[in-house]
Amino acid sequence: MVDLHGQYLKIKDEIDEAIQEVIESSTFINGPQVKQLNSRLSDYLGCKYAICCANGTDALQIALMALNLNPGDEVIVPDFTFIATAEVIALLGLKPVFIDVHPETFALDTDKFSKAISKRTKAIIPVHLYGQCANMSEIMKIASEHAIFVIEDNAQAFGADVQFNDAWQKAGTVGHIGCTSFFPSKNLGCYGDGGAIFTNSDNLAEDLACIANHGAKVKYYHDMVGVNSRLDTMQAAILLVKLKKIEEYIKARQESARQYDTLLKNIDQVKIPVRVDYSTHVFHQYTLKVERRDDLQKFLASKNIPTMIYYPVGMHNQNAYKTNNIFEVSDNLCKKVLSLPMHTELTLNQQEFITDSIKEFYKK
Ligand SMILES: Cc1ncc(COP(=O)(O)O)c(C=O)c1O
Repeated sequence: MVDLHGQYLKIKDEIDEAIQEVIESSTFINGPQVKQLNSRLSDYLGCKYAICCANGTDALQIALMALNLNPGDEVIVPDFTFIATAEVIALLGLKPVFIDVHPETFALDTDKFSKAISKRTKAIIPVHLYGQCANMSEIMKIASEHAIFVIEDNAQAFGADVQFNDAWQKAGTVGHIGCTSFFPSKNLGCYGDGGAIFTNSDNLAEDLACIANHGAKVKYYHDMVGVNSRLDTMQAAILLVKLKKIEEYIKARQESARQYDTLLKNIDQVKIPVRVDYSTHVFHQYTLKVERRDDLQKFLASKNIPTMIYYPVGMHNQNAYKTNNIFEVSDNLCKKVLSLPMHTELTLNQQEFITDSIKEFYKK
C-alpha cells in the first residue's frame, strides 16, 4: 500500500544527517528540533500555533481536554471514521454522538449535524477522510450558531487547502483546534509515532501545550490535569526534512490519483473518488466504491496486489460503541469501499498492472 523505504532512499543523506545530529547532541527529548518544527508547521499551515505531541490520537484527546467539558457532554462525530476519533471522546467520559456521512464525499453530512444537536452538544469533530476536507464553511456556520467547538481531525488531509467563507486556507486551521497524525504512512509521516495540534487561539494554545506537558507550565508545578505526550527530537528532526518536501509529495499523490482516474474510467462497477469544489484532495487514500468488493479484493490479492478496506465497520456497529440508530450510508460504504495502493513512489506501470487486473476481474 505504501513504499516508505523507497521514499527514504531518495532523501537518505538528509535524513541520516538529521538523525545523526540528534544522536550527537543527545537531546533526545525536547531538543531544539521540536521547537523548530512547531514553528515551521505553523508557518506552513498559516496558523498561529502548532504544538507537536506523541501521536494523532493524543492530539485529539488533548484538544478535547482543553475545552473543559463536563462528563456526559456530547461530541458529534461521523460514523464512518477511524476509531481514534470516537475513542478519545468516550475515554474522557464524554458521549460520542455518531452521525451518518455523505455517500459521495465520505465526510459528515451537514444536515445530519444540525439534526443531532442537543442541549448537551459541546463539540463536533469533522474528519477530513482520505485527504479531502469536510465542508468547513457549513460546519463552522452551524457550530457558531449553537456555540459548539470544532476540532478538525486532519490526520488524513495534512496539506490540503479548504475554502472557508470565500477564502482558502490550510486544512486543520479553520476549526477552533486542528489535529494531525505523523504516523509513517500519513502524507507527512515520521519514522515512528507523532502528531500535532494547531490553533489560532492564544488561550487554547497555552492550555494545549500545558496539558501535553503533564499539565505543567513550569516544571513540577501542575496547574491542570495533563498527560505525557511529547514528540521526540529524532522524529522532529525527520519531520523537518520531510516537511520541506510536502508539496512535492502531495503533487505525486495527486498525479497518481489522476492516472488512476483515467485508467479506471468506463468500468461500470467502479466509482472513482468524487472531488468537491471547496477542498483540494491530497489523496492520503485513493478509495473506490466497487461492486463485489470482497471478491475483487481476493482476486487482487491472488496477484499480489495489496488493497485495504478503510473501514469495514462503522462506529455504531463496533462492539464498544454499539447503538441501535440507523446509518444507511455508513453501512453501505463499509461494504463497498476499497483503497488501492497510494504513495509517493507509485509508478505508472504499477498502476496499469493494478487497473488491468481490476478490469480482468469484472470481465470474468
Ligand atoms: C482519521 C484519523 N484520526 C486519528 C488518527 C490517529 O492517529 P495516530 O495513529 O497517530 O494516533 C488516525 C490515524 O490513523 C486517523 O486516520
